[in-house]
Amino acid sequence: MKKGMLILIGLITIVSILCFMKQEKKKESKKNNPYEVFSFYKKENLDRYEKYYKLKKLSYKDTVLRVNLNLDYSYYTHTKEVTNFDILMLVNKYNYVSKDFKVPSLKEVKEYARDGMYLESECLEAFLKMAHDASIEGINLRAISTYRTYEYQENLYNDYAKKEGIKEADTYSARPGFSEHHTGLVIDMDNITSNYLNFEKTNEFAWMDDNAYKYGFILRYPKGKEDITGYIYEPWHYRYVGIKAATYIKKNNITLEEYYSEFVDK
Ligand code: DAL
Ligand code: ZN
Repeated sequence: MKKGMLILIGLITIVSILCFMKQEKKKESKKNNPYEVFSFYKKENLDRYEKYYKLKKLSYKDTVLRVNLNLDYSYYTHTKEVTNFDILMLVNKYNYVSKDFKVPSLKEVKEYARDGMYLESECLEAFLKMAHDASIEGINLRAISTYRTYEYQENLYNDYAKKEGIKEADTYSARPGFSEHHTGLVIDMDNITSNYLNFEKTNEFAWMDDNAYKYGFILRYPKGKEDITGYIYEPWHYRYVGIKAATYIKKNNITLEEYYSEFVDK
């Protein structure tokens, strides 16, 4: 009986010590791995987080968000095809649509646009409402480039590359398949009277800056975010993402890439 008790106590002690050691090990590994506290942490990217953190000295959160976007790799490497249409879809230098990608409901933009412009129907409805409300305040928004086919973007990009070289063209023009103009969720705009390159200086730009998010649009390639979007500042290029995402992106001064990495990419 006495011997049995001693064995039991011994066993309990050993199990307790093992549990304690396991917990300590867990605590230690959390300390060594500050990335895993984020819901968007990906175990398979751990080595890349560590490397990128040492290189860029960003916060742990930004390190995880950016590595998950493949920003630690060169542009146009490690690319992935996006097959499903979604208003939060991400098309950029790592994510492309195929030549035959179909936008579910493309409709012609019959007002506030140049001839021959097409947009996805939800985006179109939001744009028409926005342009109408703006016009009441004397603001003239006009869509000058919207949905683009693969072939259209191919010609555009090749022309730029021929004139200015690939390196320069890549700073402002997407390669075919990699342009979010293929999604039907994008509008390049002007104010009718001045060239779109001067859009930033117009009252229309100031109005868009204050109001676009209320209709679900974001300025897609903002100043100071070139290292995340991969493109120079484009004050004329707006992307429809819906009111919820647009409001969050605007209020937190982030890009679609960061929003996607934190909330959409699972
Ligand atoms: N200018 C934008 C990046 C495009 O070519 O889609
Ligand atoms: Zn554009």
